[in-house]
Amino acid sequence: LAELKQEKAEYLVIGTGIAGLTTAINLSDQGKVILLGKEELKDCNTEYAQGGIAAAISKEDKPILHYTDTLKAGAGLCNPKAVDILVKEGSQRIYDLIDLGVDFDRKDDGISLTQEGAHSCRRILHAGGDATGREIRSALARRVIENPNIQVKDRIFVIDLLVNNQQIYGVLAYDQKQQEYIAYLSSVVVLATGGAGELYQSTSNPKVATGDGIALAYRAGAKVMDLEFIQFHPTTLELEGVDNFLISESVRGEGAVLRNHAGERFMSKYHELADLAPRDIVARAIYEEMKEAETDYVYLDLSHLNSEFIIKRFPTIYQTCLDYGIDISEEYIPVAPAAHYLMGGILTNTDGETNIEGLFACGETASIGIHGANRLASNSLLDGLVYAKRVADRAIDYIRDIEGEKLEELTIIYGDQCSEAINIDIDKLRKKLKDIMSDQVGIIRTEGELRVALAELEALLNCLNFDLSDVSGFELQNLITVAYLTVKAALVREESRGAHYRSDFPESRVEWKKHTILQKDNQWEE
Ligand code: SIN
Repeated sequence: LAELKQEKAEYLVIGTGIAGLTTAINLSDQGKVILLGKEELKDCNTEYAQGGIAAAISKEDKPILHYTDTLKAGAGLCNPKAVDILVKEGSQRIYDLIDLGVDFDRKDDGISLTQEGAHSCRRILHAGGDATGREIRSALARRVIENPNIQVKDRIFVIDLLVNNQQIYGVLAYDQKQQEYIAYLSSVVVLATGGAGELYQSTSNPKVATGDGIALAYRAGAKVMDLEFIQFHPTTLELEGVDNFLISESVRGEGAVLRNHAGERFMSKYHELADLAPRDIVARAIYEEMKEAETDYVYLDLSHLNSEFIIKRFPTIYQTCLDYGIDISEEYIPVAPAAHYLMGGILTNTDGETNIEGLFACGETASIGIHGANRLASNSLLDGLVYAKRVADRAIDYIRDIEGEKLEELTIIYGDQCSEAINIDIDKLRKKLKDIMSDQVGIIRTEGELRVALAELEALLNCLNFDLSDVSGFELQNLITVAYLTVKAALVREESRGAHYRSDFPESRVEWKKHTILQKDNQWEE
């Protein structure tokens, strides 16, 4: 065992998507911020967001309409206070982005707004056609890099939180470049580590989405909420041997329609909003159509739209599909649902505080109940943006509140947990985990399948008796932890609501209009 190299900061932010970057920028006036990313700065879900960011900024729109749509999509489980804050503070945060240099697409009379599923009007801002996330992330990243108060450190993997007497004092991390362990010490730690799409074989998320923040917060004693609610995006490109590339919902917003293998439109059979129904309903409808036709995909058809419009409005989707031999202005796109977004996460209040003092969370890794059981399209970037600012504001006050409070001096030592490393094929175990989740914990669930998954995950957890000295091992450990919690929560919730569909309990139940909260060493609480 050795005493660790240490670095101190006033504020420590983990994660480089919209939530992490926004938090760091808003904290930087008040003290030194260290921003940690486990890969490069651009490796995050924000980079891949296409459709846009929702906000009630048009003359025809109002925050109350956005609020109502969000609550309706959330299937009775949204936290009304958190949604109210989201829709009311949203437009100001959008103007902040514009001030920072984000170049949203425009049309003659102002910002161009698109439509997406379950929105009652056009309210989605977009940039670069279908490259909204990339535009926002790079504008924020430029500000972060040029800011002398923010120290960016990439390829740093956070292994565990350092908590003493229910108060955070830093993190234990592994520096992948220097190949050494290091402790970052701070009285404020903000987790903005994104989601966990890597739980599944098919996902729209990048490989970094391994639920790290949720797993390490849970291990440290933080409460986690609603992990059974995993959103499957209805339309990702489905081609043999190709990663599921997102085909934005805004494509349907601009007029594209879904067709089954017989070439028939089917969505009006499932919902009055047809192709623009809430995401959980569209994903399940596609699943049913695929099952009936015994195929792995349905079709998205935009061939009736003007081809110049398609190329200009969706340049990334057009080019990516063309690279795979599909001209979307003439041909149907084979699409299937894929894991996309986690409604659940680390339980926080509306200032991003967790039950551990000094530990904050925001963005996809947090759960305040904004998205309820099913997130409304394009509310995720807005969530990251609005709540990152609130976290920064609260963290600044928190540091003021504890000023002068002397933290106990602690010695941090770390050593390999096992003297003998057992040779385990981590890639094989990661694939096994994805198989379990995809086969037993997918769009439709039953108690029997969930119990099988739980037993298989327990067996997998036992395999983790090895030297966790490399990042893929840490990631696998985190994925298994989040998977295990997801299955536990899915078993407990004996009803169907939003993205959580149990065929053995196909209806929503009034007594289940509540959240599932899990904490280490405790049973679940409501
Ligand atoms: C999309 O463009 O369809 C994704 C947007 C979102 O997940 O909100």
